[in-house]
Amino acid sequence: MHLNVLNVLIRCVAIVMRSQVIFTASPEFAQVALNEFQIVDRHCKFIQWLDSGVGLIELNTEFSTLAAQIAITKAAFTRHICPVTETISIDNLKSAVASQISQFDPTQTLSVQIRSNTKEINRSELRNLIADDLIAAGLKVEAKDPAQIISIFCTQEIAYLGFSIAAENLSNWAGGMHRFAHEAGQISRAEFKLLEAIDVFNLQLPSEGLALDLGASPGGWTRVLRNRGLSVVAVDPCDLAESLRSDSNIKHYRQLVQQYLPNCRDRFDLIVNDMRMAPVDSAKNMIAASEVLKEEGLAVMTLKLPSKGVKGTIGNAVTILEDKYQIIGVRNLFHNRQEATLVMRVF
Ligand SMILES: C[S@@+](CC[C@H](N)C(=O)[O-])C[C@H]1O[C@@H](n2cnc3c(N)ncnc32)[C@H](O)[C@@H]1O
Repeated sequence: MHLNVLNVLIRCVAIVMRSQVIFTASPEFAQVALNEFQIVDRHCKFIQWLDSGVGLIELNTEFSTLAAQIAITKAAFTRHICPVTETISIDNLKSAVASQISQFDPTQTLSVQIRSNTKEINRSELRNLIADDLIAAGLKVEAKDPAQIISIFCTQEIAYLGFSIAAENLSNWAGGMHRFAHEAGQISRAEFKLLEAIDVFNLQLPSEGLALDLGASPGGWTRVLRNRGLSVVAVDPCDLAESLRSDSNIKHYRQLVQQYLPNCRDRFDLIVNDMRMAPVDSAKNMIAASEVLKEEGLAVMTLKLPSKGVKGTIGNAVTILEDKYQIIGVRNLFHNRQEATLVMRVF
C-alpha cells in the first residue's frame, strides 16, 4: 500500500480511538497498576505492554475524567499516565504537533517528552525537531516543571502522541522518572527517595527543630534533613557515614528502634523511617514512635513490599497506623525499589 494512503488510514483509525492512555509503573508492580485502572474504569481494555512497566489501555471514559479519578483513589502504583490522541507514523510527528500549536497556552511552559522502546529512535534529535516549531510559534518550551506536556511514545513503527496539562499526568516527568542531580557529599541513593517524597507529596517540612531518623545508616536521609535546617537523632545499630560524625547537630544512637524508643525523652517535629523491616512491624514501631512526635507532626516511612500481595500488605500496615495517624498518601515512587513511601500526620 502506498505510504501516504497508509498514513491517512492510521490517522482515521486514531481519530476513532480517542480514549487511549499509556500508563507507567515500576515493572515489578505493573500488573498491580493495571488493576488500579480496572477499579476506576471497570470496562477499560488492556491493549498491550509497550515496554517493561509501560502499558497501553483503551478507556471507556475521557482521559481527564480518568486522571481525576486516579488522583482521588490515590492509586499507589500508577506512576504516570498520558493520553494518546493520535497514533501515527514517526515521519508525521512533526506535522501532527505543528497542526495543534494553536491549542497550547503561550503563557504557560510546555515540554516535549519522548520515550521509546527501541534504541533506533534518536529522541533528542526528534525532540529538537519538534521543539523548533513550537519555539518559532512563540511557545515557552521548557523541560523542567512544565505546565503543558506533549507526550510521545515511539516504537519502531509508530508513535503514540498525546497532549495534556501536566497536573493530569500524575507526574510532570516523562514516565514519572523523577530525576535528581547527584550532589557532592551525597551519602546514599536513598536520599533521592526522601527528596522525591517531598516533591511528590508537596511536603512542607519544618525548617528547624528536631527530626528522628529511624534506620538511619549510612545517613542519607539524615544528611537531607540537616541540609534543610533540622537537627537529627539518628537511630540505627549500623554506622553513620564519616562526614556526619563530627556534626554536633546529629546524635547517633547505635541501637534498634525497639531499644531506643522506650527510653526516649525527646519530642520531635518530624519522624522518618526507612528501616529494613516487615511493614506490619515497622507500622507497630511507628505507633510507639507517635508518642514522641509533636501534635500534628509529619511522618514519612517506607514499606518494604513482598513480590505478591502488595495491596494486602499495605492495607495491613495502614490499618495499624490509622490508630494514631491520618494517612496523607502512599505511593511507589520512581526511586523506591521493592517498596512504597507512606506519608502521614499524627492526630
Ligand atoms: C535502607 S537502610 C536506610 C538507609 C538510609 N535511609 C539512608 O538514607 O542512608 C535500612 C536501615 O535500617 C536499619 N534497621 C533495620 N532494622 C532496624 C531496627 N530494628 N532498628 C533500627 N534500625 C534498623 C538497618 O540497620 C539499615 O541500616
